[in-house]
Amino acid sequence: MLLNLLGCREIINDLQGYYLSALSHIIIINISLYLNRMKKIVFIVGGAGYIGSHMAKHAALAGYDVVVLDNLSTGHKDAVKYGKFELCDIKDKTKLDALFKKYQPDAVMHFSAYSIVSESVVDPYKYYDNNVSGTLNLLKTMLDNHCNNVIFSSTAAVFGNPEYVPIDEEHIKKPINPYGRSKLMVEQILEDFSQAYNLKYLVFRYFNAAGHDVDGELSERHDPETHLLPLIMQAARGDRKNIAIFGTDYDTKDGTCIRDYIHVDDLCAAHLNGLNVFFNVGKEVHSNDFNLGNGSGFSVKEVISKVKELTNKDFTVVERERRSGDPAVLIASNIKASKILNFTPNKSKIEDIIKSLI
Ligand SMILES: NC(=O)c1ccc[n+]([C@@H]2O[C@H](COP(=O)([O-])OP(=O)(O)OC[C@H]3O[C@@H](n4cnc5c(N)ncnc54)[C@H](O)[C@@H]3O)[C@@H](O)[C@H]2O)c1
Repeated sequence: MLLNLLGCREIINDLQGYYLSALSHIIIINISLYLNRMKKIVFIVGGAGYIGSHMAKHAALAGYDVVVLDNLSTGHKDAVKYGKFELCDIKDKTKLDALFKKYQPDAVMHFSAYSIVSESVVDPYKYYDNNVSGTLNLLKTMLDNHCNNVIFSSTAAVFGNPEYVPIDEEHIKKPINPYGRSKLMVEQILEDFSQAYNLKYLVFRYFNAAGHDVDGELSERHDPETHLLPLIMQAARGDRKNIAIFGTDYDTKDGTCIRDYIHVDDLCAAHLNGLNVFFNVGKEVHSNDFNLGNGSGFSVKEVISKVKELTNKDFTVVERERRSGDPAVLIASNIKASKILNFTPNKSKIEDIIKSLI
């Protein structure tokens, strides 16, 4: 009888052990499912391009699950070094919808656009079709799939010719080309969608994004290249005959245009702060717009002479007539971004930006 009882106790102990270990397994599985779900999934649309590929790296290193969507129209597959890659055009609603269902992203960073001002003047359809219709498609797919957080890459071009500098967010928005207008239209769509459908958005207006990833893994590869710093670097490497300055009679210290250059890593850091805004409950600052720049400017001549000094290379500089639509000075006020997003450019010296390109 006693033996029987002892036997029963052993069986009970065995059963308890079995159930405890099964229970602990279930708890562990649930915790890991929970932690996996805590790892937010971010779609980086246009993530094979210059800024997007840097963003994918920053987001992945910050612990986000990154999925890059790109149609490779101006981007490069080999620039996608972080996260998964999905070949997708934002105008393809069926494909987009399938990807939103597959991954169920928590937020979208929307870098995909055409962005060559002169091309937008001769082919505005291309710009409105991709930048506006494509974005409408993307936003509708987001809403259909209950993804309500989007960071949109806008531009200083929405302001047109500045009435004052530094340009703050309140500055009148009067774009002077179809590219700038396409971006302003999306800004307005975002505002309307936020009112009507509770979409949370952050508009980030970049001034001149510049510089490369410090580890040398990623770079800027626009074709054709239209940005000043990569063009000067091509001249320094001997890959182009000369560098042209368009206009030397502007009302600036040395007669050449002044621009605000912001390191791509600083831009990416601002985007990570933006994601925090979405994911930290209580911080009700979403659905807002921010100018992202250094807050200071450098003239074309200053940038050229700094590149010559830092690379120790001389190259030919030719002076040309002004181009139409080039404002003398474009400098961002980053006060709002600094107050609300804790945005501080860490690589604000032009030397830092140039050194990352060498
Ligand atoms: N580079 C700058 O200085 C600067 C300044 C202001 C604003 N911006 C904005 O920042 C964003 C990124 O600029 P970037 O310099 O990295 O440009 P980029 O051309 O290098 O990257 C854009 C990416 O979007 C992709 N893309 C374009 N249309 C697409 C579509 N329909 N579907 C899917 N993918 C598509 C391209 O293939 C490319 O990989 C753009 O929206 C641009 O307007 C850039």
